[in-house]
Amino acid sequence: MLQPTYPIKTPRLILRPLTRNDITAFHALYAHPEVVRFLYWEPHGRAQSLELLTKKAEHTSLTQPGQTLSMGVELVDTGELIGELSLGWTSAEHGTGELTIVLHPRHHGKGYAAEAAIEILRLGFDELKLHRIFGRCDARNIASASLMEGLGMRREAHLRENERVKGQWVDELVYAMLDTEWQKG
Ligand SMILES: CC(C)(COP(=O)(O)OP(=O)(O)OC[C@H]1O[C@@H](n2cnc3c(N)ncnc32)[C@H](O)[C@@H]1OP(=O)(O)O)[C@@H](O)C(=O)NCCC(=O)NCCS
Repeated sequence: MLQPTYPIKTPRLILRPLTRNDITAFHALYAHPEVVRFLYWEPHGRAQSLELLTKKAEHTSLTQPGQTLSMGVELVDTGELIGELSLGWTSAEHGTGELTIVLHPRHHGKGYAAEAAIEILRLGFDELKLHRIFGRCDARNIASASLMEGLGMRREAHLRENERVKGQWVDELVYAMLDTEWQKG
């Protein structure tokens, strides 16, 4: 069970539940071709963004495995919503969770993803007491792979053409960290 105390503050960011009022910024994120380039879907229409946002806004805690907790990423300085991140509780038996993060390209390359993602690792390991947190990305997604490496996650797999995405076979990378590695810092 994980019920974070919101908002979660980092030096430059505020992590907090999404609400339907975030639709404009949220849609700007998922309508952006660069954002969805290595994800499973095409740029969203507004109705599709609203449907996704509504679902994410409802999931602000984890009460059982199978659920995914989502948070908005807001800039302290301007209050702008620049992205969202999540922790999926994939298995209670195996103590595993999955990290995902999406930021608007206007704010890439400033260290915001790393600053936010560390909070997901902290929640997963320190509060939910997970054993292993993993992340997956398209092997062409250098930014995502670099982010996970920078967080100290290990590259555990390079799966060759294991998924067919947008009509083509693509490779997938799997990164992970164990609780013992997290504790060592
Ligand atoms: C992946 C993503 C969240 C990274 O966000 P970001 O804010 O630019 O990342 P950061 O600035 O925190 O950078 C983290 C690390 O990755 C590196 N990095 C980020 N973008 C990079 C790029 N395009 N090329 C090489 N390295 C990159 C940074 O140098 C940094 O490395 P360091 O820890 O050694 O300094 C962002 O590119 C994104 O939202 N992409 C679209 C959605 C997506 O694909 N999400 C991943 C789903 S699997």
